[in-house]
Amino acid sequence: MAPGEKLDPVPDSFILQPPTFYPVVPYITTIFGGLHAGKMVVLQGAVPRDARRFQVDFQCGCSLDPRPDIAIHFNPRFHTTRPHVICNTLHAGHWQMEARWPGLALQRGASFLILFLFGNEAVKVSVNGQHFLHYRYRLPLSRVDTLGIFGDISVQAVGFLNISPFAEGSREYPAGHPLLLQSPELELPCSRTLPQGLWPGQVIIVRGLVLQEPKDFTLSLRDEAARTPVMLRASFADRTLAWVSPWGRKTLILAPFLFHPQRFFEVWIELILNQ
Ligand code: GAL
Repeated sequence: MAPGEKLDPVPDSFILQPPTFYPVVPYITTIFGGLHAGKMVVLQGAVPRDARRFQVDFQCGCSLDPRPDIAIHFNPRFHTTRPHVICNTLHAGHWQMEARWPGLALQRGASFLILFLFGNEAVKVSVNGQHFLHYRYRLPLSRVDTLGIFGDISVQAVGFLNISPFAEGSREYPAGHPLLLQSPELELPCSRTLPQGLWPGQVIIVRGLVLQEPKDFTLSLRDEAARTPVMLRASFADRTLAWVSPWGRKTLILAPFLFHPQRFFEVWIELILNQ
C-alpha cells in the first residue's frame, strides 16, 4: 500500500474473511480473528484415487522454523488396510497421544464436505453431513490463528463462518468483526498512539486490504523520540517478510508469504517478555 493512497474502489464497505476457491496444496492461510467457540470452517474437496494421507492443521502461528504448535491435527489415512483418521496435537515439537477413529466416511476418488465446528471444549467434525468425531482441545483454542492443508487432497473451497448459534455454552450470537474500509481514519500513513505503552502478552492486530499492484508495506512500533525499534516489512517483489532494524538491516522471517494483491490480511503482533 502506498502512503496516502485511498482504499478505493472496494466492493463492499465491510467484508468478513472471504472463502478461498481451488487453493494450491500445501495451502496455509491466516484465520481472521483466530478461532473461538461458535466458529466453523468448511472444507469442500475430493480425495485423489491414489491418496495415501492428507492433513488439516489448525496451527498456532505459521513460522516454518521453529515449527508452530498444532492445536488440532486432523489426518485421514488411506494407505492402510483399514482407512482411519488420526487426530493429535503437536506441542513444543512433540506429538501427544494419538486419537484414532476407524470407519472413515471419506473415500479415495470421492468428493466430500467436511465441517469443523469449534465448541468451548472440543471441535466436532462432520463428514458429508454426518457427525464423525469430536476431539477435546489440548491447547487453548484462542492460540489458533492459522489453517494449513497438506498432502493428498484436492480442495474446491474453504469457507469461514461465524454463524453457529448452537455452540455449547455461548450466550451471545457469535458475530464476525467487520473490516471497516473507506474510513478517513484509516488513510495511510496511519498511526495510533498506545496510551498505556506496551506490555508482555499484548496483542496488536492490523487488518488491511492489499492494493492491486503492491510494492511493499511496513508496520512499525515507534517510541516517543520517533525511533522505530521494531519494523516489519512485507516486500511483494521478492515475496518476503522481514524485520528491519533501525539501521536498515533486514532479518528475513521464515514463514510463508500470505499477502496477495486485492486480498484482505490480518497481522497479529504479540509482545513476549524476553527471559
Ligand atoms: C506421525 C506422523 C505425523 C502426524 C503424527 C500424528 O506418525 O509422522 O505426520 O500425523 O503421526 O500423531
